[in-house]
Amino acid sequence: MDGNGRWAKRRLMPRVAGHRQGVESLRRCIRACVERGVKVLTVFAFSSENWSRPEDEVSGLMELMGKALTREVPELRKNGIRLVFVGDRQGLSECMRQSLVQAENQTADNARMVLNVCFNYGGRWDIAQAAAKLAASGEPITEAALGGATALAHVPDPDLLIRTGGEQRISNFLLWQCAYSELYFSDKLWPDFDAAALDAALAAFAERERRFGKTSDQVAHQAVG
Ligand code: IPE
Ligand code: MG
Repeated sequence: MDGNGRWAKRRLMPRVAGHRQGVESLRRCIRACVERGVKVLTVFAFSSENWSRPEDEVSGLMELMGKALTREVPELRKNGIRLVFVGDRQGLSECMRQSLVQAENQTADNARMVLNVCFNYGGRWDIAQAAAKLAASGEPITEAALGGATALAHVPDPDLLIRTGGEQRISNFLLWQCAYSELYFSDKLWPDFDAAALDAALAAFAERERRFGKTSDQVAHQAVG
């Protein structure tokens, strides 16, 4: 969800105002995904590297997360959305950790869509923590075991990765899980990413041929269903 800061700057507003608008955009996107039958939506809300932003922006983002939880969890709960926080919780305040667990517990029985919120997340952190888990258990390090130890083992690998804001890079998001994801880059700033923009991304995705290492002919003759 990139581009909040620029959205605000263009309006001569503080960056945090852009993040506030970003939350609105996320609400809209969640609704649109549910309506379209998406089963898993994973968003990058705060990266391990975002701590190095100016102090007031970091505290603004933390405050926004706290407020969004209070306001949105009842709505998510009502709409059948299961909320899961993915990331390094040790770096978060005790109060924030409690709010995350509470929000997860309140939506744990929902099954319409999983909403993974990557918060204090980094793709490298995820791979390293998965490796550390295996090392501690003495389990042999295989692809399946490592994948199963990552922080997103409760959902399938993403089919589509959308980055807004015009930048064409992964920025330490889901490094392990995106091995075969289709990448889609939108020039829209995140607060401007609406249902029509989502549909454009889905339409582009529908045009892609996913081969997973096979040839185009093999894929064409594969039995469907
Ligand atoms: C949101 O956009 C990403 C978050 C870390 C919440 P940015 O804050 O990166 O916006 P730009 O890139 O400065 O426009
Ligand atoms: Mg940015």
